[in-house]
Amino acid sequence: MRMSPTALPERSTLRRLLRLLRPHRRTVIAAIVSVIVSMVATLALPALIGRIIDEGIRHHRRDLIWPLSLTALGLVAVRGITNFFRRNLSGAMSVRIEADLRARLFAHLQGLPVSFHDRWQSGQLLARATSDLNAIRMFLGFALVFLTLLSSYAIAVAIALLVLDPWLALLALCLTIPFFVTAMRFNRRMEDVWARSREAVGEVTTVIEESAGGIRILKAFGREQHSVRRLSAAAAELRDVNLEGVGYRALYIPALYLFPNLLVGVVFGVGGFRVIGGALTIGALVAFNQYLGYVVYPLRYVGWILSQAQQAVAAGDRVFEILDTQPTIADLPGATALATVEGEIAFDHVSFTYPSSTLPALHDVDLTIAPGETVALVGASGSGKSTLASLVPRFFDPGEGRVLVDGHDVRHVTLSSLRSQIGVVFDEPVLFSATVHENIAFGFPDAAVEAVTRAARAAGAHDFVLALPQGYETMVGEHGFSLSGGQRQRLALARALLAEPRILVLDDPLSSVDVRTEAEIEANLRALLAGHTALLIAHRASTVAMADRVVLIEDGRVTATGRHADLLLTNPAYRRVLAAELVLEELAEVETT
Ligand SMILES: Nc1ncnc2c1ncn2[C@@H]1O[C@H](COP(=O)(O)OP(=O)(O)OP(=O)(O)O)[C@@H](O)[C@H]1O
Ligand SMILES: [Mg+2]
Repeated sequence: MRMSPTALPERSTLRRLLRLLRPHRRTVIAAIVSVIVSMVATLALPALIGRIIDEGIRHHRRDLIWPLSLTALGLVAVRGITNFFRRNLSGAMSVRIEADLRARLFAHLQGLPVSFHDRWQSGQLLARATSDLNAIRMFLGFALVFLTLLSSYAIAVAIALLVLDPWLALLALCLTIPFFVTAMRFNRRMEDVWARSREAVGEVTTVIEESAGGIRILKAFGREQHSVRRLSAAAAELRDVNLEGVGYRALYIPALYLFPNLLVGVVFGVGGFRVIGGALTIGALVAFNQYLGYVVYPLRYVGWILSQAQQAVAAGDRVFEILDTQPTIADLPGATALATVEGEIAFDHVSFTYPSSTLPALHDVDLTIAPGETVALVGASGSGKSTLASLVPRFFDPGEGRVLVDGHDVRHVTLSSLRSQIGVVFDEPVLFSATVHENIAFGFPDAAVEAVTRAARAAGAHDFVLALPQGYETMVGEHGFSLSGGQRQRLALARALLAEPRILVLDDPLSSVDVRTEAEIEANLRALLAGHTALLIAHRASTVAMADRVVLIEDGRVTATGRHADLLLTNPAYRRVLAAELVLEELAEVETT
């Protein structure tokens, strides 16, 4: 997910991740204090047990055993309580950091220009963000704490062991090296298995999703067998990878459990001689063994924790990359609110090239639309109609030239004041998982029922909405009632009309509506357009005929303007575009009847 060539190197990603802790300074300090208290209690425990053995048991000092044992119990209690606090503090803090980061990311994504979202599929983006944020939370709330804890323990314990018996300490520490290496190797193997297993799961899911989503195509083209084969291949791969994992676990886990026990044998074997030789007391030997346990067991997890840290850094890289992408479409400093407009739109020698492309999509477009005028944009697919229309609500800024609304450069007014005066409908209408009413009132959640109904009537949606199971309260969208393409377009149209904007930008608003419905909507639309400045992208001659003026666009250039009837008579290119549409239209009719 590279976006900018100036991506920060890993080290500073780690630093930035740590910087996320800064607003939680107090929690961090409280957590560190509990760690220190817990550590002191933990480290005091073996020493205390050593004293119980050496001073209490060996010298039959009953009066000492009781108080020392009770102190040991007290230390255990302190350890338990501080661990509880530490876990609570670091866990809650990491959850908060994750939530903050998610909110920041989402808000940032909203502010990014349309061109950013064109490049990244939003589903993919959010899925990634979710797993990335999770990795960061695990790192900050768990891996980081573990590593800090373990390294401080390792140092303290190493000192304690060396003080108790330097020779035995060196021997034991040398012996932990093969254990550590084995644990690291096991972890590497398992990481590899997990990565491949995740990939296989992804493949299985994709095949299933595609088969479910594209079931009609699969059946129509007789490719069911193919996807069954693809699925069995993916499932077999998944099984093999998981079996490999089972093999590794069966081999390594018992070995890793065995090792600390072997070490106990060595410590007591060699240590026993040291005790008899007088170099060590029994109590010190027992304490020694216990100290060793504090570092040996956690060593197993170092590899795993380090890979968690690596994942968190990679995740942080991606998250920061998005956060570092500056919105190019934003209010300029000193932008003023656009007052209620008359509705004149002017394209002043506008050229535009998509960031991902080298060919201009628009070339020196010069066009003025008078207040109240309806202009239809006509052109072949890919000629640049949608691009031109997107410049008005400032989804993009032109590379050259200016877009003016009532004489104001759209770059010099605030986005909210501009967009609130423009009703927009795209050719792929989006419905949210909400009721019909909420979908229409999307921009104005407080809109009165009458206003919503009025907009729905104007968009030709009212009748079919009433026929839905719960009328305006029917849930639609991804998790609701399925609507046809034409019905969705009419709801989108109603949504754009609700605010009664002065300017309408309608990108093929009737493309999925059948000819009869179109006629119905057109009757409404004609009345509606009369009160607005409208940029209407349309393919059908009947829709185009509603416009006061038609602009023909070919390869990003305006090649003709005029009345529909005149252009039909005089312009062969215009006739060709409309005729091509007509043929497609008739084909569609034949297919559906
Ligand atoms: N997001 C994008 N990134 C890069 N190029 C794009 C993008 N969107 C459109 N284009 C290109 O710009 C040109 C104009 O596209 P545009 O969508 O404006 O055409 P259109 O006239 O609306 O076509 P249609 O009638 O099919 O909707 C095309 O060559 C297209 O490939
Ligand atoms: Mg288009």
